[in-house]
Amino acid sequence: MSHTIRIALAALVLSAGAALAQPQPGSPSGQNPTTRAVNEEQLLREMGRLDGRVTIPDTKSGTLEQPQGREWRAFREGWLPWIGGIAVLGMLLALGLFYFSKGRMRLDQSEESGIKILRFNAFERFTHWLTASTFIVLALTGLNYIFGKRILMPLIGPEAFSTLAQWGKYAHNYLAWPFMLGILFMMLVWLKDNIPGRIDWIWLKAGGGFLGDAHPSAGRFNAGQKLIFWIVMIGGIAMSATGIILMFPISAVDVNGIQINQAIHAVIGVLFIAAILGHIYIGSLGMEGAYDAMGSGEVDLAWARRHHDLWVEEQQAKTASGPQLGRSRPVPAE
Ligand code: HEM
Repeated sequence: MSHTIRIALAALVLSAGAALAQPQPGSPSGQNPTTRAVNEEQLLREMGRLDGRVTIPDTKSGTLEQPQGREWRAFREGWLPWIGGIAVLGMLLALGLFYFSKGRMRLDQSEESGIKILRFNAFERFTHWLTASTFIVLALTGLNYIFGKRILMPLIGPEAFSTLAQWGKYAHNYLAWPFMLGILFMMLVWLKDNIPGRIDWIWLKAGGGFLGDAHPSAGRFNAGQKLIFWIVMIGGIAMSATGIILMFPISAVDVNGIQINQAIHAVIGVLFIAAILGHIYIGSLGMEGAYDAMGSGEVDLAWARRHHDLWVEEQQAKTASGPQLGRSRPVPAE
């Protein structure tokens, strides 16, 4: 223990002891806390926590006992792994069941037009993959905070786990910044296309083409995608705000505030991960042709017409030199 820390601790103990030894005129109980009649438990009950006086600049270190810490620990060690496990495993199970019962949404080879249309430009794709790649590392390292010592440590041993957890923590702290930048860029490039409208309600009522045979109309983003967009925006902003507070502990809120903040960060985090698992499924395995939109940026015109017919019409109206549909062919039901 360093010399400075030892002096600081000595000062804390001495001045807290002195504070308790003196009569406390402002004490909520109106009693002298040094009398035998008043025990620590009674003081805690009445004051919520035990604070002493410290002579070092960091006055918050005067908190001697903070019972909310026990509630927080019970949440972190008890409830949180359950909430996280149910959210993440529940979503994986639901997606597995959906895949095995419904299969992939396909577009027949015969339906492909062979004409490509640009769906996302280079900056949009950069923004997407910046956010996605950093999110995946944040998600894995975040889950390691909750489940690492329970699942990984018994498998790889404490030494390897501590090295991994240390690097995971660096990754979590530093990659949070490019992730936040990604959220900001996404807001700039996609917000205008994600304003909810009447068409989204119709799309939702038709089950988005997933449940029945109908294939509802949609603009650049359908209601399901808009939902993902808003989950990413609201979740991203909430994770950023609570994450920054956790990165600079005790600077904006006290110890109790940090605990509440950690609980919010963790619960939103696991729900966010579960929602994004659903998105990753649809963007890759769940729907044929979807990945191209974020891979090369181009999709087949027939795919675009089937899933985003109003957007295609809009694009065609914008540019006469863009890909033209010609006479519109009826799209067979799935
Ligand atoms: C490996 C992981 C991922 C894959 C394969 C993937 C795939 C895709 C695809 C194909 C699209 C375009 C859909 C279309 O044509 O309309 C898309 C859009 C989008 N992605 Fe991802 N994505 C992944 C991870 C993420 C992550 C981690 C986030 C955010 C945290 C994210 C946020 C978005 C948003 C906001 C959109 C626009 C709205 C939407 O289409 O739902 N993606 N993604």
